[in-house]
Amino acid sequence: METHSSRKKYTLITGASAGLGKAIAKECAGRGQNMILVSLPYEGLHLFGQALEKKHNVEVHCYETDLTQPQELLRFAQWVKQNFSLNILINNAGVGGTVPIDHATPACIENILQLNIRVLSMLTYHFVPELKKHRQSHILNVGSISAFGPVPYKTVYPASKAFVNAFSYCLRAELMGSPVRVTVLNPGVMLTNSDVIARNSKQSWWGRQLNLSPEFVAKHAVDGMLRGKRAVLPGLLCKMSYWLMRLIPNVIQSFLLLRIFQKEVPAQYKNKPSDIESGWSEKPSQL
Ligand SMILES: NC(=O)c1ccc[n+]([C@@H]2O[C@H](COP(=O)([O-])OP(=O)(O)OC[C@H]3O[C@@H](n4cnc5c(N)ncnc54)[C@H](OP(=O)(O)O)[C@@H]3O)[C@@H](O)[C@H]2O)c1
Repeated sequence: METHSSRKKYTLITGASAGLGKAIAKECAGRGQNMILVSLPYEGLHLFGQALEKKHNVEVHCYETDLTQPQELLRFAQWVKQNFSLNILINNAGVGGTVPIDHATPACIENILQLNIRVLSMLTYHFVPELKKHRQSHILNVGSISAFGPVPYKTVYPASKAFVNAFSYCLRAELMGSPVRVTVLNPGVMLTNSDVIARNSKQSWWGRQLNLSPEFVAKHAVDGMLRGKRAVLPGLLCKMSYWLMRLIPNVIQSFLLLRIFQKEVPAQYKNKPSDIESGWSEKPSQL
């Protein structure tokens, strides 16, 4: 008879079709982990999954859905629970953007709150009972270095990542004594999509040198998670930024960060009155 411990184990990664999630999936496949990958439809997730299966001789199942839709998330969680034994949950999918708050559309703000906070919390809720059944299991939540400072023009995004940070610490404490280890990853800027690349190009020469590669971050993240670390700050500059933000008084941080991030605000949003009706219709994107 098949027992729980003899069943194949799977790693679930959200937002695995692109950017950091894709790099984490490659990292996990290289370590021989079977995976369930999820992302929005029509972004080539199945082709990517097949390529990983072929290259690394692992099992990969792909599921395309919009996780911000509560019914879709529930359907996905039930499908995973019915078919797989999960020992690693990686909550990677997240969105952000740089825009003055009064120029953001309600849909954009909703999307950040839904994906960065609700989806991460609900997937954790659905899978903790399963994760507890294993001898050792892990949750990796992807936050951001922006969680630690007052980052103007991103406002909802860093606040949502502060939630991810606090949620992860609370959950880790709650699950102490259980087999589940919770790790939070707080990376700096990675040039993962066209929107981040466009915004980063407006930064100073120094600002543009601070980027991390998703592959570098993925390796540190998976290493840290498997070692059961509480938090992962990938790279020296990321660690330095964290400590600077802890040491510099908040009022000075606000002044400095305002100067840095106002460069990223699209020209059409500078000094214009808010217009909720016409709204900010760009696809929300990353930090
Ligand atoms: N990039 C940075 O500079 C940076 C810095 C610090 C932290 N982070 C964090 O790192 C994580 C990954 O960021 P990234 O830059 O790699 O992102 P990305 O390149 O934009 O990829 C986002 C992934 O999430 C998926 N996704 C988006 N909305 C979804 C939804 N509603 N339902 C299901 N999947 C959805 C996307 O699917 P599709 O490909 O199908 O659209 C894609 O796979 C995020 O949590 C982000 O906040 C990023």
